[in-house]
Amino acid sequence: MSRIFSGIQPSGELHIGNYLGAIKNWVALQQQHTGAIFCVVDYHAITGNYDPAVLRQRRWDMARSLFAAGLDPERASVFVQSDVPEHTELSWIFTTFTPLGDLERQTQFKDKSGTMESIPAGLLMYPVLQAADILLYRADAVPVGEDQVQHLELSRDIARKWNARFGEDFFPEPKPLLTPTRRILGLDGKAKMSKSLGNTIGLLESDEEIWQKLRPAVTDPNRVRKTDPGNPEVCNIFQLHKAFSPAETVADVDTQCRSAGWGCIDCKKVLHANMVAELTPIRTRAQQLAEEPARVLDALASGASTARGIAQETMREVKTRMGLDPVRQG
Ligand code: TYM
Repeated sequence: MSRIFSGIQPSGELHIGNYLGAIKNWVALQQQHTGAIFCVVDYHAITGNYDPAVLRQRRWDMARSLFAAGLDPERASVFVQSDVPEHTELSWIFTTFTPLGDLERQTQFKDKSGTMESIPAGLLMYPVLQAADILLYRADAVPVGEDQVQHLELSRDIARKWNARFGEDFFPEPKPLLTPTRRILGLDGKAKMSKSLGNTIGLLESDEEIWQKLRPAVTDPNRVRKTDPGNPEVCNIFQLHKAFSPAETVADVDTQCRSAGWGCIDCKKVLHANMVAELTPIRTRAQQLAEEPARVLDALASGASTARGIAQETMREVKTRMGLDPVRQG
């Protein structure tokens, strides 16, 4: 049976891109497989300048949002990366045989480092730590959005190289589990929805805040007047309907858009209603968890304890095979 692992950075609020690309799938997968492992990857969030107080707050907010979105500590282990030090230990080992060129080729590295005057080495090593996150649990299935596919390719290369040197088939080659909503665009309808681009809708935003963002969101650029027929295939709002609205509504939107029956605002109002229907229970649970923080903290502690058990076992085996086990007389 496959082992599922995935991670998310506590780099800001959980937004509907993360939710549709990954978290909703985590929640679905935990029903099918007990023992899935999900991690708030705080070591990944310190590769740029940051404020410790803000990071502390964001880790808490992210953990609370994940449970509010439906992760169940009875079915899955959820924990914070820096609570399990084996992540960085395995990461160092992996850096010793990851070619520099492979790291320099990573699209996310090129995008992020492009404008930097001084590039932290941690930014370059980021995908090695990601490989360690996954392989520490010998996970072979990783539910992620499309932007992580290249990093997973590198994780597979690392697993293959390590296995070739130290032990056939010890590490599985982890594969991405993608959803139909693997790449959610931001409200500009152009770039990936991402906190750093300021084009997100937060999972815990109020009905009014969501509407204020949806109202001006970009639609089919060729549909200038309400009477112009639109093309749903190029409209980001239609893509969001596919994610939030029932199939009959999606079919209706398609017809109404192509025939100019509905204007874009009418279409957005229907989307807004369906988004609110899905997100309100999440917001309510997040509020309840804010009032009972011990439920979140206990769940994280228990998740970290399970994770640590698996991680220590993997490291024992890795170190033994690499000649790094406890020193004895030679
Ligand atoms: P992060 O924190 O940027 O995103 C978390 C998850 O959300 C997905 N995602 C999206 N999916 C669709 N459309 C979008 N606009 C969108 N934005 C984000 C991401 O693909 C991801 O699945 N490097 C990872 C974190 C990480 C990790 C790991 C993931 C560290 N170690 C091990 C898996 C396994 C990242 O920065 O994700």
